[in-house]
Amino acid sequence: MALNTDKIRADFPILNSGKPPVYFDSACMTLRPQQVIDKINEYYVKYPGCAGRSLHSMARMVTENYRGARENIQKFFNAGDPSEIIFTRNTTEAINIVSRGLNLNKGDMVLTTDREHNSNLMPWLVRSERDGIKHKVVESKGDNTFDLARFEEMMTRDVKLVSMVHTSNLDGYTIPAENIIKIAHDHGALVMLDGAQSAPHGSVDLKKLDVDFFACSGHKMLGPSGIGMLYGKKDLLSGLNPYNVGGDTVIDTTYSGYKLSGLPERFEAGLQDYAGAIGFSAALDYIRGIGIDNISRHEKNLNKLMTDGVKDIPGLDIIGPVDSSLRGGILSFSIDGINPHDIVMLLDQSSSIMMRSGAHCVHSWFNARNLPNGSARASVYVYNTKDEVKVFVEALGKVVDFFRKS
Ligand SMILES: Cc1ncc(COP(=O)(O)O)c(C=O)c1O
Repeated sequence: MALNTDKIRADFPILNSGKPPVYFDSACMTLRPQQVIDKINEYYVKYPGCAGRSLHSMARMVTENYRGARENIQKFFNAGDPSEIIFTRNTTEAINIVSRGLNLNKGDMVLTTDREHNSNLMPWLVRSERDGIKHKVVESKGDNTFDLARFEEMMTRDVKLVSMVHTSNLDGYTIPAENIIKIAHDHGALVMLDGAQSAPHGSVDLKKLDVDFFACSGHKMLGPSGIGMLYGKKDLLSGLNPYNVGGDTVIDTTYSGYKLSGLPERFEAGLQDYAGAIGFSAALDYIRGIGIDNISRHEKNLNKLMTDGVKDIPGLDIIGPVDSSLRGGILSFSIDGINPHDIVMLLDQSSSIMMRSGAHCVHSWFNARNLPNGSARASVYVYNTKDEVKVFVEALGKVVDFFRKS
C-alpha cells in the first residue's frame, strides 16, 4: 500500500514549522512524530517517578508503563519473553553488554563483516588487545554483497561468535542473516546482529531468525534518543557477566557478597530512562500503524528514483551494490574531485537538504579503500516524498556544475 505521506508529515512538528527541511539524514537519527513526543511528556507531566522500587501509586504507574513498554517491544520484534528485552542507552551499549560479558578466551575468534559501524568493531578490537581473542573480517564480494561461501570457509572451530551489521549504515545493504545464522549455529557459534539500521526499515522476527543477540536504537525508528535495546535468548543472557552493576542489578548484598537479580534487571543498573522506554514503545506503535513492509517499499521506491536521478552524473560512484533495491533507503556516493563535506554543506545552504558526509563511523571500510574523505549519504524514511527526491536530484546537479566550473 502506498504511504499517505501528507498525513504522515502532518504528525511531525519539524515538518510543519516555517520552511520544512528536506531531511535526508534518517540513518543518523529520525525525526519524531507528535504521538511519541506526547508519550514522553505524559511521563514527565503525569507520573514522573521511578519504577520497581517505591510502593506509592505514582511509582506503580511508572512500573506499569515501563513493563508495558517492554512487552510491546517484545511483541513488535517477536521475542520469546519480555525478560529477553534489556533496555540500554543505544545500540552501542547493547553490543558492549555482550562484548564485555561474553566468556571469550584467548584464541577464541569473532567474525564480523567488512562494513561494521565502529560500535560493532571497536568492542572486538579492544577485546583482541586486552584478552587476546582473534577477530577476522569476512570480505564482501566484488559486487559488494555478502560472500556466503567465503563466510562458510571461515567458520572454523575457533569461531565462537559471529557479530555482524544486519543492515549497513554505509550503503543500506542487508546481509542474508537467516543463512548466516544457520551456518554459524551448525558450526556451534553464536550470532549477534547489529540491528540499528534493520529494525527501523524492515520486518525483524527474532524467533524466526533464531538470532542469539540483537541490538537496536530508538532514535533511528522515530523514538527518543538515549534509549535502545539488547535482545538475547534467556539462557544466553543468564550466562553473560554484567559489566555495569549497582542499584537494581542485585537482590541482596552484604559487606562481602551479593546475589544478582534475574532478567532483565541485572543488566539495567541504576534508575532508568522511563520516558525513553515509553517513548520507544510509542514509536513502535506508530510504525505498526503504518506497517513496516509499507515503509520498506516506500523507501526502496524513493531510493530507485534518487539513484536513477543521479547515476549518470560524471564521476559519481555509488557506495555498495549498484542495484538500489539492495540498498533500502540509503544512497551513499562520492563524486570524483569534490569533497563530500562540500557537497552536503552546499545542498543545505542552497536547498535546505540535510544529509551526512564523511566516514559515517565506518572508517575501516573507507581506509581499506584509500578514500579518506568518505562519502555523501542521503537516507530516507517514512516522511520523505517523491517531490523531495526531485529537489535533491536537481540541487545535486547544480552543486556539481558549480564545483566543475569553479
Ligand atoms: C549500523 C549501525 N550500528 C550501530 C550504530 C550506533 O548506534 P547508536 O549510536 O545509537 O549506539 C549506528 C548508528 O549510526 C549504525 O548505523
